[in-house]
Amino acid sequence: MRVLVVGSGGREHALCWALAASPLLTKLWCAPGNPGTAQHAENVPIGVLDVAALVDFARQNAVDLVVPGPEAPLVAGIADALAHVGIACCGPSAAAARLEGSKTFTKEIADAAGIPTAKWERFDDAETARDFVRRRGAPIVVKADGLAAGKGVVVAASVAEAEQAITDFMDSRTLGHAGDSLVIEECLIGEEISFFALCDGKHAIALGAAQDHKRVGEGDTGPNTGGMGAYSPPPVFTPELEHETMARIVRPALAELARQGTPFRGILFAGLMLTADGPKLIEFNVRFGDPEAECLLPRLQSDLLPALLAACDGELANFALRWRKRSALSVVMAARGYPGTPVRHSKLGSLAAAEAVPGALVFQSGTERLDGQLVSSGGRVLTVCGTGETLAEAQACAYRAVGAVHWPEGFFRRDIGWRALG
Ligand code: AMP
Ligand code: GLY
Repeated sequence: MRVLVVGSGGREHALCWALAASPLLTKLWCAPGNPGTAQHAENVPIGVLDVAALVDFARQNAVDLVVPGPEAPLVAGIADALAHVGIACCGPSAAAARLEGSKTFTKEIADAAGIPTAKWERFDDAETARDFVRRRGAPIVVKADGLAAGKGVVVAASVAEAEQAITDFMDSRTLGHAGDSLVIEECLIGEEISFFALCDGKHAIALGAAQDHKRVGEGDTGPNTGGMGAYSPPPVFTPELEHETMARIVRPALAELARQGTPFRGILFAGLMLTADGPKLIEFNVRFGDPEAECLLPRLQSDLLPALLAACDGELANFALRWRKRSALSVVMAARGYPGTPVRHSKLGSLAAAEAVPGALVFQSGTERLDGQLVSSGGRVLTVCGTGETLAEAQACAYRAVGAVHWPEGFFRRDIGWRALG
């Protein structure tokens, strides 16, 4: 099997690491990749949004399977373009990727399929939207409809804050076209979970759950980030809740998408709130989470590659995956300044000592090599995963490895796992 992974983050490093272990693999590429993916794959200098060049590369190199990591190439139609030339892609069509590209689309699917989610309304003009929040009161959640790189959601504690968000998105156009329309919805209370399922258009198998830490600061304070750490499995997410999530959220969504003629293939990421009334859907994404992938994939005992192929071939009905009875916890190391403007090209010491910690894995995201020296090239730079028999052991392992990274201009949260471990 000749496989091309698309992306350049810690998630793609973890995907390359997992795929490289497959006996079925004969050749692995990663576009554009990073120095971490280069340990397992040959990096190809093509950007994730250059769909035409990615498809050309896949054709010319007789690639059997393409695995897109981020949502952008999926929303841009890479799966459709690959289907055109007969190459398998473990990811949804552009039509099904609207689950991540449009909040309205997701809410309509949820309502049509009877999926538990926050009550919502859609607005195309700011005055009507402001009127609605004044009548409803706070807390209330204001969301720009389109893709906004995590900046399109405001959980407003007051009516004034909600009105400000409406003004920013619709009048000031802070997010451009993403703010053409808004979804305003009920605020859900509970613990947040990232749940993943592998889907073949008709059937889905659970890949399990992880709990992310979105705020930059300890104790979940400060601005939102792409995620500062995660752990899996989260003890709050019992097997009963997993069963309920598959039965009430994942399978109904798949059935509704298939009914509409846009079957979903690939990784379905359900952002859930565990409310007093059970799990409710916050959002769908059409890919693995980052840093969630970096603590889910290390727990997978089965070969990942046949599972991804079965998803492409519509053959997941009788497919089962085995998981290690171990916990994993990932700590993100970010460059000073993140999530604002991170320092660039700050030097990292050798990662060998961290990689040598028993049970630890070091995944690279925003790194590059300058004259042989490993330097930072983005906000989130490393995701250090620890594994162990228990979550507490995984946490200790992760922080032992973090402590072995010499990087004066990096920072990390010291409390990853606090919800489960106190
Ligand atoms: P989203 O981009 O939809 O994932 O939203 C970003 C974050 O906003 C989520 O991860 C939640 O923490 C929060 N959020 C979104 N919708 C709601 C809601 N209805 N109630 C409470 N929090 C929400
Ligand atoms: N860590 C959240 C995400 O990947 O969207």
